[in-house]
Amino acid sequence: MLPSVVTVYEVGPRDGLQNERQVVSLAVKQGLIERLVAAGLRWIEAGAFVSPKWVPQMADSGALLPRLPHPPGVVYPVLVPNAKGLEAALAAGAGAVAVFGAASESFSRRNINCSIAASLEGFAPVLAGARARGVPVRGYISCVVGCPYEGAIAPAAVAEVAAALTRMGCYEISLGDTVGVGTPGKVLAMLEAVAARVPVDRLAVHFHDTYGQALANTYAALQFGVRVVDAAVAGLGGCPYAKGASGNVATEDVLYLLNGLGIETGVDLDGVIEAGRFISTALGRPSASKVALALAPGAH
Ligand code: HMG
Ligand code: MG
Repeated sequence: MLPSVVTVYEVGPRDGLQNERQVVSLAVKQGLIERLVAAGLRWIEAGAFVSPKWVPQMADSGALLPRLPHPPGVVYPVLVPNAKGLEAALAAGAGAVAVFGAASESFSRRNINCSIAASLEGFAPVLAGARARGVPVRGYISCVVGCPYEGAIAPAAVAEVAAALTRMGCYEISLGDTVGVGTPGKVLAMLEAVAARVPVDRLAVHFHDTYGQALANTYAALQFGVRVVDAAVAGLGGCPYAKGASGNVATEDVLYLLNGLGIETGVDLDGVIEAGRFISTALGRPSASKVALALAPGAH
């Protein structure tokens, strides 16, 4: 059965902009997030407190957070890989953070330079520090269906990491199809394995659209009972450590799907299209959202 309410968790300012070759100014990042807030999005991943040598595009997250508006209910989670990242994030005013692991050993090494087991050990101080300060921690798992280095990933491997992160205190697990290779059957097999260890109401899905399957996978996950969907305005994104991966499913396209299903989100599609227009103009390229293109002035 489909849920009646879904949370759209916007990751464009982080997952999208982390992958841009060109430098995106603080003013543009701020302008994008202000428009996303105005559209009614409440969970907006605003940046990452990671090594600036690894991901220079996120190096200004500490300067960005204090500039953001704080209407009631708006949360700006940020990625933190370790205690250093947590302290910097909290100093900048982050109200929620996310750790990010993987179900693939090779991807874990490429992305955060350690094994899966070592990554979980490294997240322990982040979870302890965040708990002490009352800050909620989301847990990401990358490569939940396939890995750019290892190919297919066993659902049991994903379930194992999801269970570990939940045991450690993550309030939600976001299941990332980092390279976008999933199809609904594979996604459902993975969700079944994970839901046997972690309640479905603590799961989110995070689809990249490399093979054009992200909306189909989203629909399958909704039918499975997932109620949190990650998406990026204008389909921004990719991952610097997953060569060839394209952007996240576009927020506009997810909203069109949810609106069509009569599922409530509290988000205004036109407002997100406007935010997408803003960032696409700033980046000098067309939106990757089909809905934004179809509804663009003069499209018909
Ligand atoms: P390392 O080189 O193994 O760690 O990197 P290190 O402890 O030796 O530190 C190296 C340098 O980074 C040191 O500086 C540290 O101080 C500094 P130096 O002494 O050389 O001048 N450093 C930091 N600086 C700022 N903030 C920090 C921090 N930590 C260390 N928090 C590390 C290990 C984890 C730091 C590195 O690998 C890293 O930053 N990786 C981040 C990679 C990343 O951000 N990837 C993209 C996000 S994940 C994603 O996109 C997937 C997702 O969307 C879901 C999906 O689609 O699958 C979430
Ligand atoms: Mg991602």
